[in-house]
Amino acid sequence: MTIAVLKRDKHCEINLPWPINALNTFTMTEHTITNAEIQALVAQGAADIAAATTSQALQDARVAYLGKSGKIAAHPYFQTIKDAAPEQKKIIGADRTAATAQLTAALDAKKIAIEAAELNERLAKETIDITLPATPAPQGSIHPITQVTNELIAIFAEFGFTVAEGPEIEDDFHNFSALNIPESHPARQMHDTFYLRGMLGEPGQETPAVLRTHTSPVQIRTMLANKPPIRIIAPGTTYRSDSDMTHTPMFHQIEGLVIDKSINMGHLKGLLNDALAAFFGLEKLPMRFRASFFPFTEPSAEVDIGCKRGRDALVIGEGDDWLEIAGCGMVHPNVLRNCGIDPDEWQGFAFGCGIERLAMLKYNIPDLRTFFAGDKRWLTHYGFAPLGGQQ
Ligand code: DAH
Repeated sequence: MTIAVLKRDKHCEINLPWPINALNTFTMTEHTITNAEIQALVAQGAADIAAATTSQALQDARVAYLGKSGKIAAHPYFQTIKDAAPEQKKIIGADRTAATAQLTAALDAKKIAIEAAELNERLAKETIDITLPATPAPQGSIHPITQVTNELIAIFAEFGFTVAEGPEIEDDFHNFSALNIPESHPARQMHDTFYLRGMLGEPGQETPAVLRTHTSPVQIRTMLANKPPIRIIAPGTTYRSDSDMTHTPMFHQIEGLVIDKSINMGHLKGLLNDALAAFFGLEKLPMRFRASFFPFTEPSAEVDIGCKRGRDALVIGEGDDWLEIAGCGMVHPNVLRNCGIDPDEWQGFAFGCGIERLAMLKYNIPDLRTFFAGDKRWLTHYGFAPLGGQQ
């Protein structure tokens, strides 16, 4: 019987390091097994390998023939090599190599065939029912406060506004004094301020630390840090010691500030009307200014939008009722001066409103306190899908 024997190729060994390129470092030579018993043993092995139908059966055949004490290693003919004459040793060695190589080749070929058959069998058996509904993955949702804040940022960005931020722990100067609310001013009482222990501010000018009662201190920080023209909105968290049906100790506001030359209340009214109409998704939104008072603006106004109060629904933009929605005005000259801006050269306007109120009106959320109750059912109902749309 003539079989292929793999012999190491010395030439290749130099260029291709053994054993990484093992296949390349062998060339085929031919050798006929001389011993009849070994010929029969190899033939029997080949038959056993051919008869194997599973990976396990093939592995058993590999161990039986090529294992450490398998039929090849243990065969008496190969044991004689120790005492054989040098010429005979060569022949026995070549016989062993040939027998091993032939069985290995048969095993490897059969392994590929069995694996392919086993895979085909699995593919045929294990069908996947793609019509079954997938197990839903739990999904979070965007809180209405975040959603409305992002909507407002997007609208004001269209008008060229950038977002400004400030700290939630403020000092008395930024939260009150610089906004023209001096120590004894009655407006302070409207704010139900949370005072913290300790002082904040530049050395020698420290003032009591407070949780900011409104987003207006961001106006001050922006004007102190930047030269006009200025056009910012400042959304953020605010705090007041107040808790009932319509007040929570923590709430959110959005502040707007424009400082430029020749700015007047007409610009303010036009901007608010356009921005609020866009927010409520209306072509036109009836809106009026009602004279009011804020220490940091002069003149000041309360902003009302038109609405209809039905028996169980409030419709924005229709009817002849009014709903208060924001405070605004022309920035008080004292506030500009406190920030090093000359009021004879620069004017501006400011506005501020509650984000919860806007969210309640736009998305029909009846109770303010539910915003912060952390109820998952509420969040699932009123929250927004991360990729857009209400859930
Ligand atoms: N800071 C005010 C408040 O918390 C809201 C406000 C009113 C802000 C008028 C303004 C403004 O910028 O011009 O009640």
